[in-house]
Order: sequence, then C-alpha cells, then structure tokens
Amino acid sequence: MTDIDPSFVPEIIIESPGRINFIGGHTDYNNGFVLPAAIDKKIRFYFRKIDSLENAMIFSKQYEHPIKINLSHIVKSDVIWENYILGVILQIQKLGKKLRGFECVIDSNLPIGSGLSSSAALECGMAFGLDKLFELNLTKTEMVQLSMQAEHEFVGTKCGIMDQFASVNGKKDNAILLDCRSKEYRYIPTVLDPYKIVLLNTNVSHQLSDGQYNSRQDECAEAVSIIQKKFPEVNSLRDVSLSMLEVSKQSLSPIHYKRALFVVQENERVLKSVKALEENNIEELGKLIYASHDGLRNLYEITCPELDYLIDFSKNKEYVMGARVMGGGFGGCTINLVYEDFVKPYIEEVSKAYKEKFNIDLSAFEVNLSNGTTLRK
Ligand code: GLA
Repeated sequence: MTDIDPSFVPEIIIESPGRINFIGGHTDYNNGFVLPAAIDKKIRFYFRKIDSLENAMIFSKQYEHPIKINLSHIVKSDVIWENYILGVILQIQKLGKKLRGFECVIDSNLPIGSGLSSSAALECGMAFGLDKLFELNLTKTEMVQLSMQAEHEFVGTKCGIMDQFASVNGKKDNAILLDCRSKEYRYIPTVLDPYKIVLLNTNVSHQLSDGQYNSRQDECAEAVSIIQKKFPEVNSLRDVSLSMLEVSKQSLSPIHYKRALFVVQENERVLKSVKALEENNIEELGKLIYASHDGLRNLYEITCPELDYLIDFSKNKEYVMGARVMGGGFGGCTINLVYEDFVKPYIEEVSKAYKEKFNIDLSAFEVNLSNGTTLRK
C-alpha cells in the first residue's frame, strides 16, 4: 500500500463479511430460493471525512495503487476492482444523496475472486460506510439494491441479489432462507455440530464478467420464453414445475432443458435443506448439497476439473457429509461439511492430492456464520 498518512485516524470503522451459500446455486437471478450466510471473513473499512467537496481517496492494503476519485465526475476505471467502489458512489449519487470528500483505508482477510463474494462485501461496506459517514439515511434494502446495481452497471456482471443480501443481512449462527421473487426471508438457526464448514479454494481464478455467468442467465431467459408459449403464467424459472417442464421438453433445446431442469430441482433442494436443518438432519442436508453439485456439473455446467476433483475426493470420505461448488463457478471455493475430528487430516490429505494432480496449492479454512455489515466504531 502506498501514500497513506501514518497518522490516519478513522471516524468510523465498518466490517463487511463475505458469504457462503449452503445451497441454491444460480437460483437467485431465476427468482428462486437461496440459503446463504455471512461468514467471519471480512473486509474492514476505515473512513474519515476530509476538507474537500469533491476529492476522495481509497487505499487498499491488498492493492498497490490508491484510487483517486473526483466525486463530481464518476467514470469507469480500467482497473476492475475500482469499479465496484466507483459504481457504488455513482448509485448513491443517483439516489440524490450528496457526498463530500473522504478517505478510506481498506483491509481484508476475505480471499478475492473465490466465490465468497468479496465483491459484494466491498460494495456493501462502501455503501454502509458512506451512509454512516454522511448520514444519508439509506435503508438496508436500498444499500443491497444499489450495490447490486453498481455491479450490473459498472462491472458488467448481471449478478442476482443473494450476495449483497447475505453480506448486509447476515446473522451469527444463522443461515438465511431468501425468496428472491418476493424478497421475503427467514433466519434459519444453523447448528451443525459435530460438523464444521470447511472451504477449499481451488485457487483457480474466475471472472464472472467474462461472459459465462451472463450467458447462463440468457439461456434461462430463453427457456422461460419457450415455456411461456404453453404456460403464459410463467414469468421466470421459479414459476416452472417439473410437470410443466416435461410438457415443454419437445420445444426446448437440450441445453435449455438442462438449465431449466437444474433450476427447478435446485429450488426444491433448497426447501428440503431448510427442513433438514430444522430437523437437525445433517446427513440429509449433506446429500442435498452433493446433489446440488451434480446438477451444477452435469446440467448447469459451471464447474471445472479442479472443482469436480475436490468434490469427488470428498464423496469418498464418509466423514464429509456434503460438498459443492459455491458462487458463480469455474473455480473458486467448494463448501464441505466435515466431521470435526477429521478436519485437520482431511485438509492435509486433500491439499496433498490436489497439489499432485494439478500442481496448484489449495487453500483451506474453516468458517463460522457471522453478522452482516456492521459499524464497529
Ligand atoms: C455469484 C452471483 C450471485 C449468484 C451466485 C451463484 O456469486 O453474484 O448472485 O448468482 O453467483 O449462485
């Protein structure tokens, strides 16, 4: 990090968490159900006002160059991560809220580009911090919405609402059942004992804006428009039942059929997972999580050899109850429910095997469910 004044004293400190998603992959932008939770890996923001009407500076301990911002002229940057911040600032301004000069130092223990939603944590922490610093009176819903909009417009990823929602609304020791159609949600107390949540980072990098993510959305929208011809009441894949899908099968291309089938099945799995959690049936939850990965691999096709290797490895261990890819796919992390006594040997064994297979170092860590974006000071 460069250029930061050593006497920097923040007025406020914000913590914004990453998220996991137990189940409900690629259902959010299909108006479906998701079951995410905020985690204890976070981005910290140190904010202070400065004596200027239009200058802002952002320093990140993870990036060498600070961002110098002219608040009266927000334009896209060539540096991707800067656009998450610039996008949020522009969206706040579009709501008619007035920002003045500020400085912000960012530090993080949340791995970037790993399917843990570092981007949503960045957007939501920035929105939350500016709201507090300048007393903008934004609601949580507005912060979630404007952060998502920033990602659509400035970064070019047409993400769903899950990541921003979970980052802002997370609750310690709880998952969130979110209905992405109505935006209604319910906290689900999540006691997994004696299992731990272990994340394995493939360290294969993915860029959601590179087209695959957006093209899945297009395929889903195309499937909807074909199904609508027989079922005009259908507005999204959320409204499609298995029987409707079978009736429409002849009109759908194999790709469209596979994508739609995955989403319909995945929505059912989310609701069954909530039931399993409420009944403390971790074995059933684990089976549903494995089934989710199978669907993401064979029907939705957003996995990659590294991810599939890790899931196959876990499936062979009777102490791993469930495992799946999280996030957009094509790399990033897998989530694994691992019996606590085996966490250490499991990590050692899988890391060694992964290194031998791909010559890539695996990162492995345990996470706990935490509160959402919070004011620390
Ligand atoms: C990314 C997106 C989310 C969601 C997941 C897949 O994390 O940002 O909106 O679509 O992928 O479940």
